Amino acid sequence: MRRALAGLPANSDPNLLVGFNLADDAGVYRLSDSEALVQTVDFFTPIIDDPYTFGAIAAANALSDVYAMGGQPLTALNIVGFPANELDSAILNQILLGGQSKAAEAGCTLVGGHTVQDPELKYGLAVTGLVHPDRIYTNAGAQPGDRLILTKKLGTGLIANAFKASHLAEADLAEAVASMTALNKAAAEILPAFAVHAVTDVTGFGLLGHAAEMAQASQTGLVFHAAQVPALALSLTLAANGLKGGARDNQLFLAPKVAIAEGVDPARANLLFDAQTSGGLLIAVAEAEAAALLEALHQSGVEAAALVGEVTEKNPSCIRVEP
Ligand code: CO
Ligand code: CO
Repeated sequence: MRRALAGLPANSDPNLLVGFNLADDAGVYRLSDSEALVQTVDFFTPIIDDPYTFGAIAAANALSDVYAMGGQPLTALNIVGFPANELDSAILNQILLGGQSKAAEAGCTLVGGHTVQDPELKYGLAVTGLVHPDRIYTNAGAQPGDRLILTKKLGTGLIANAFKASHLAEADLAEAVASMTALNKAAAEILPAFAVHAVTDVTGFGLLGHAAEMAQASQTGLVFHAAQVPALALSLTLAANGLKGGARDNQLFLAPKVAIAEGVDPARANLLFDAQTSGGLLIAVAEAEAAALLEALHQSGVEAAALVGEVTEKNPSCIRVEP
């Protein structure tokens, strides 16, 4: 995507507050001094078998980019690719119901959508939200000394892939499914009370991929403490066998930007590159408020939230992973 966008002319509209130049989570467009639109779209192929749950995961994932910008989701459109000749429409109905349940939980109104005939099933949402133009969380505000908090466990990619390859039982998926269907709403709603400087959500590029975007946009370095990063059960066991697919791509792409210190457990290092679906928020918060924010997250049910690192001065390798 980055390569595809490279040749496009820069947008000069002064109301475009966040465009695609800094690889942020969503576009933000100012309507007035007090309101801006947050716009994002995401859809993908099923990662689990149950259609209702897949719909819920895809919707939670799409809504997440609005929360990552500090916005409140307002409306959404369904985006569907469906092999109507091969699959019963009852399956699509379940997917849409799952998506709608998450939109409703977010207080977001589904206003329509579009379906195309597609040999490969795909589902997601285009979401529009609102944010105050002065309270946008981009990935560009991290400051040296800030602490980094991650609000969900890592490992959804490893677990979904192992399940697809029939290496896991349905019951082994439960924790990952609960994590992927959880909205980032509760976490996002707490942030305005704290000195939060930058936010992004962790999805396909893995923790370190989205962290690298934050470091680049903020012109800082980042340090992660691998042992403190929360991990889904079984994900470390799976990560010990190495990475495949998107996670392996992340690892190769990020290699020049990531220095892994001696003594870091190799499985924990691998986990940091795992592609996440509907992952948590990565938050840079002033050091003095980090403990209070973490406590507030735990109090409001974001139990997996953990302090995972800190922001440093800019350095050539960008990200350092310590044990
Ligand atoms: Co995002
Ligand atoms: Co996205």
